[in-house]
Amino acid sequence: MVNVKSKKTIDKHEQHRLDQLGEYPFARLRKLLDRLTPNPELEFIDAGAGEPRLPLPSFVQPTLDAHVSGFSKYPTTTGNDFLRESIAAWLQRRFGLKAIDANSQVLSANGTREALFAAAHALINPNAEKKPWVMMPNPMYQIYLGAAITAGGKPYLQPCTQATGFAPDIDGISDDVWRDTALVYVCSPSNPTGWVADQDYYTKLLELAEKFDFYVLADECYSEIYYADKPTGLLEVAQNMGNADYKRCLVMNSLSKRSALPGLRSGLIAGDADLIQQFAKLRSYTGPATPLPLQHVAAAAWADESHVQQHLNVYRDSLDAFFKVYGGDIPAGSFFVWLPVEDEETFVRKAYQEQAIKLLPGSYLGTEDSRGINAGSGYVRAALVDGVTKARELALRLKSL
Ligand SMILES: Cc1ncc(COP(=O)(O)O)c(C=O)c1O
Repeated sequence: MVNVKSKKTIDKHEQHRLDQLGEYPFARLRKLLDRLTPNPELEFIDAGAGEPRLPLPSFVQPTLDAHVSGFSKYPTTTGNDFLRESIAAWLQRRFGLKAIDANSQVLSANGTREALFAAAHALINPNAEKKPWVMMPNPMYQIYLGAAITAGGKPYLQPCTQATGFAPDIDGISDDVWRDTALVYVCSPSNPTGWVADQDYYTKLLELAEKFDFYVLADECYSEIYYADKPTGLLEVAQNMGNADYKRCLVMNSLSKRSALPGLRSGLIAGDADLIQQFAKLRSYTGPATPLPLQHVAAAAWADESHVQQHLNVYRDSLDAFFKVYGGDIPAGSFFVWLPVEDEETFVRKAYQEQAIKLLPGSYLGTEDSRGINAGSGYVRAALVDGVTKARELALRLKSL
């Protein structure tokens, strides 16, 4: 018989790890805006979520049609050979990698989100005597926090503020902390700040990883969205340092942003073969395989750059249009703008009611550190995902506030 836990039993488990997770930012945003009405005289602009809204790349439908019979087969949880080979070829082209083995150093994932969350579970020993630190930027993509807590780690927050140039600090951290660190999440280009890790930053971090024996997990899902310079990648830097096996490195990427296919739920995890093997083992039990027809679409997407270039042109033009009106510095990467405001919740409500704009309060992307400071407070995030005309209109309306 199934043992359904009574409410009483659940209450006894107050320390359940899931209970330590806060409400997801978009659920909080829904509550914040509940019962408010956007100005009906203006066309609504949804800049709240980072969901690309670009036309479907032309190869999607024909590829799907050609492989629809694949729905009658089980896909492998590692991703089938043709997909891993397409991913490996893209990684080589994009980051100038001399070699990456599609069998042992690459896995398919159902989006970066799954990979980021599950990697912590694959790599942290929940039975260790001492909970290890899991380092992450603050503000951050909330999955890092959820993964660290549920996998049995302790989040170590790196405030990314104007004072740090929005970089997660790695210079001011003591050796004792590094010694007890299991994983470091890096987000480059960063959601929400637009900061991009350069060669020096990744090099320093990898030197620390080697010295103190921890893993670096790079969330590079915005790597193809940048304003001027193409962002470097963790694997590229590892190779440049002579770490040809990508020891201690894992990168996550996906087609959600690069190819504007968030609904495809297809991404990659690549790097150190030992860590990949550990991740593959976890995945063989949790089992989030990608259906074969979708793997074919994904393989076609990694092999094509023309749609990526078209998208990039739209994002760049949108950033130009926005900042020409609004003023300020264009972020190095991602399609987010991160704007300082006095009180972010008040601002978001006002923007919704008066200007028919949906934004996200910055504090929802951060969390309070040990000093009680949420590094996302005092900011709002707007996603420029609706094309150039709306980006300009968004800037005009925000300026009027
Ligand atoms: C920084 C960051 N990482 C990961 C993801 C997850 O994207 P996906 O799972 O669609 O690849 C997002 C989505 O918004 C993101 O902003």
